[in-house]
Amino acid sequence: SSNGTSSGDKTLSVGTEATFAPFEFMKKGKVEGFDVDLLNAVAKEAGYKVDIKNTGWDAMLAGVKDESIDVGMAGVTINDKRKKSYDFSLPYFESINMIVVGKDSTVTNAKDLEGKKIGVQNGTTGQISSEKLFGENNKNILKYETSAMAFMALENGDVDAVVTDNAVANEYVKKNPGKKVKTIDDKTNFSSEYYGILLPKGSELKSKFDKALNKVLDNGTYTEIYKKWFGV
Ligand code: ARG
Repeated sequence: SSNGTSSGDKTLSVGTEATFAPFEFMKKGKVEGFDVDLLNAVAKEAGYKVDIKNTGWDAMLAGVKDESIDVGMAGVTINDKRKKSYDFSLPYFESINMIVVGKDSTVTNAKDLEGKKIGVQNGTTGQISSEKLFGENNKNILKYETSAMAFMALENGDVDAVVTDNAVANEYVKKNPGKKVKTIDDKTNFSSEYYGILLPKGSELKSKFDKALNKVLDNGTYTEIYKKWFGV
C-alpha cells in the first residue's frame, strides 16, 4: 500500500451494492455502514487494508467469482446455491425477510401479497422467498437492480409491496416518515438467514477472516459497531 500507515498490509479490493442502509450506503461519495465498519475491523485484524467500491450487486457477484475482486461485503446471505460458487466467512448477522407496504395497506402477512405487485432486488433472497410463495415466473414479482430502486417503485406506485431484509426495511421506514410506509413481519412464511463475507471459492482469506471475525466478536469490537448502527 502507498498511503504510509501500516505499510506492509496488502489492500483488498471489495465490491458492494451501496443502497442497503444501514449495512452499506453512499455518504459524501464514500461507502458507509455496519458492513463497512465490520469489514474494516476484520481486515485490520487479519492484516489487510480494504478498498470498498460500490460496484453494484451483479458486478460484485461476478467479480468475486472470477476473482477480479477479492471480497464481496453486501449483507450477502449464506445459502447452499451460493456456496456452490463461493466461500463465505462465518455468519456475522442474522436477518429475515420483511414486507414494506403503504400505511393504508390491508396486507398483514406474506400470503396477502397474492395477486399484488411485489418489488424485490434482483438476485436477492427477497426474490427467492417471493418466488417460493408465488412461483418463479410470476409476473407480479418485479425485479430491480438495486435495493433503492425497489423502494422507489413502491413510492411511485409501480409495486404494492417490497420484500427485503428486515433491518433494511426498518431503516427505510424510520428514515422516511414522510413517505407513509410501514413494515409487516411474517415469521411463518419467511425464515432466518445469515450474512457472511463473500469470498472466491478456495480463497486463502477464508481462514484468516474467520479467525479475525472471532476475535472481533470476542473483544467487544463487534458490539461497538452493532451499537453504533442499531442502538443498544
Ligand atoms: N441478504 C440478501 C441476499 O443476500 C440481500 C442482500 C442485498 N444487499 C445489498 N447490498 N443490496 O440476497
